[in-house]
Amino acid sequence: MRKILVTGAFGLVGSDLVPELQKRFGKENVFALGNKTIPEDFDGNLVRGDVTDYSSLEVIVKEDRITDVYHLAGLLSVGSEKDPELAWKVNFGGLKNVLDLAKIYKFKVFWPSSIAAFGPTTPKINTPQHTSLEPTTIYGIGKVTGELMCQYYWKRYGVDVRSLRYPGLTGYKAPPGDGTTEYSVHIFYGLLKEGRYSAFLKENTRLPMMYIDDAIKGTIDLMEAPAEKINVRTSYNFGAINFTPKEIAEEIKKLYPDFVCTFDPDPVKQSIAESWPESIDDSEARRDWGWKPTFDLPKMTETMIGGLKEKLGIGS
Ligand code: SER
Repeated sequence: MRKILVTGAFGLVGSDLVPELQKRFGKENVFALGNKTIPEDFDGNLVRGDVTDYSSLEVIVKEDRITDVYHLAGLLSVGSEKDPELAWKVNFGGLKNVLDLAKIYKFKVFWPSSIAAFGPTTPKINTPQHTSLEPTTIYGIGKVTGELMCQYYWKRYGVDVRSLRYPGLTGYKAPPGDGTTEYSVHIFYGLLKEGRYSAFLKENTRLPMMYIDDAIKGTIDLMEAPAEKINVRTSYNFGAINFTPKEIAEEIKKLYPDFVCTFDPDPVKQSIAESWPESIDDSEARRDWGWKPTFDLPKMTETMIGGLKEKLGIGS
């Protein structure tokens, strides 16, 4: 019997992943671990806890006989720059706790890496799987270290840990987090609440992006793939679409011609964005376990608007 624990269950990924796992594996078999932001209307097994606390994690894993952990808890890029100490403690310390427990209790692990593992010396276009990893953010340094730890725990202890380098993710279920690519979520709130948005990146800053439904599908597909298909034990490049703030604004304007988008780059966010790639070569994920995205920019835009309107209770 599968028993699945999701840490960071109420963040951008968790908010969509938990309901999908509940649908596939049964509500009673999914345990959502949250720390601070827990929605009042959550329907399922709720566990309160902190991933930096090894002993309390151990109790959960043991008592609920966990077989799979999706370890999503962590600070995003901008939040990490505000408090590098905390970022290291949560992002790296949390992963280390999960891997150490997986060694003992033999559960399978998913952990997200990010395009933030790359840096200014990485080729920006069609970034290869195996390339220079010299990130300049504490968030990215944690991702590279985490990737190497995942591979080490697989090779040394046989921990079945799998990982994806998430691009910027766009979804509407969770409020946007403190990240760099999150402008692609804020822009829809701006559209629906005020008819305008001021982007914190320059208009032509191109980044690799993905609609959340594709990310959830890829994440579960990777976890469900037979172990012998997984040839990358650091973290797979994971691509879908790429666009600039100007391009997403123009896509929105096709549906809402009066929408106004201005650009007022924030120096910290802009410099983080400029250290990341523009597009990703994900051919190894496609070859090994059949990765294939389905959302392009127009479909993502339409879906975001429909979903967020419903969430905010705005009629058409
Ligand atoms: N979306 C994340 C961020 O911008 C990237 O991993 O922080």
